Amino acid sequence: MKWKKIALLNAGLAMSLALTACSSGQQAQPQPGGDKQGEKVKIVFARGKDVTGATQQLVEAFKKTHPNIDVEVREMPADTGQSHDQYVTMLSAKSSEIDVFDLDVIWPAEFAQAGYLLPLDRFIEEDKINLKDYIQGAVEAGNFEGKQWTMPKFIDTGLLFYRKDVVKQPPKTWDELIQQAKSLKGQGGTQFGYLMQAKQYEGLVCNFLEFISSYGGKILDDQGNVVVNSPETIKGLKKMMEVVKSDFVPKNITTFTELESHTAFIEGQSPFIRNWPYQWALAQDPKQSKIVDKVGVSPLPAGDKGSAATLGGWMSGINKYSKHPKEAWEFLKFMTGPEGQKITAVKGGSAPTYLPLYDDSEVKNASPLFANKDFVKGISAAVPRPTSPVYPKISEVIQIEVSKALAGQQTAEQAVQNMEKKIKEVVGK
Ligand code: GLC
Repeated sequence: MKWKKIALLNAGLAMSLALTACSSGQQAQPQPGGDKQGEKVKIVFARGKDVTGATQQLVEAFKKTHPNIDVEVREMPADTGQSHDQYVTMLSAKSSEIDVFDLDVIWPAEFAQAGYLLPLDRFIEEDKINLKDYIQGAVEAGNFEGKQWTMPKFIDTGLLFYRKDVVKQPPKTWDELIQQAKSLKGQGGTQFGYLMQAKQYEGLVCNFLEFISSYGGKILDDQGNVVVNSPETIKGLKKMMEVVKSDFVPKNITTFTELESHTAFIEGQSPFIRNWPYQWALAQDPKQSKIVDKVGVSPLPAGDKGSAATLGGWMSGINKYSKHPKEAWEFLKFMTGPEGQKITAVKGGSAPTYLPLYDDSEVKNASPLFANKDFVKGISAAVPRPTSPVYPKISEVIQIEVSKALAGQQTAEQAVQNMEKKIKEVVGK
């Protein structure tokens, strides 16, 4: 077993993210459930497509301890932006068709301000949930104007997964990645050298942020000023353009989201992929993967300012118009509590936000990431996207301008100039 350390220097944060390069609370009590004794209540839980089977297992486990609450899962699109728009349509019409739903880490400010969520403070207090047991950044992401609107579910951070049977030593820098991707393409049954998410959608913003942060670029500064037009951002974007326009990524890489990229990876088509922690569980699932036991994971390659990972993740909230807030809370509490998060970690491969789970042996066995104490430290220092009720508009500008640059319709310099102008209009600064 071999551990790699890479210093991540970004936004004044010095962090060390050591990742493996080897193969290697409060328990929900049975509840009476229904409004009246013995009456079964059905709640609807909405979340994006789950390819791991963890959601089904979680719902079954909940039903066992809560026989009077039935949970129907509504599958939303895999693309977070498409899910977002469907929720906004539903919730702005005050619909009660869903009770509990998962929110991307970038939504709570917007959804809280729009009045779509039920504040959870009273439930948290009554059930004596200790928020200190959770990764603080994930708790804070669901806190807006002094109230807690969501409970953290899992946390995401961008990582480099690689094929141990093809790659000798994972690359430390983007230039090394480019070299290796070029020379390894075609080896060990692969067709490509590198996979990432380059479609015009939220995942593109995450990949862009990693490139620019690794060269010291930023979108907003700590005061919320738009600082995207800098030589550092231009450098990062140029490196991203070099990768996307190379002949070692699929020709249609600008149509790739997580789904297309992870599918190609578990089919054995590439030595490298940039993806979130769930990639590990998927690659280890013999029903879906042709590369079981052949995968290693390391930090993303560094630019001249270090390696940077985008902070992602999901939380859960209650629809303000739910007709069953009590039952909705019971499910949310279970899902984001120790038992639910353990299923999400072990079966789904996603990183817990409930800290004591990092001492649980089954969780530690589920992924080399979870057994590595520096992983949690690293995750807390990952680069967040701007927190703002107008985040979707900021994201849209970035998506459009980066896509144009990747399509060769504008230079990196023009892209960041346009971003600066349009993001200033959106945030009013
Ligand atoms: C993952 C992240 C989420 C991000 C999305 C982009 O689901 O957890 O935060 O927005 O990927 O595709």
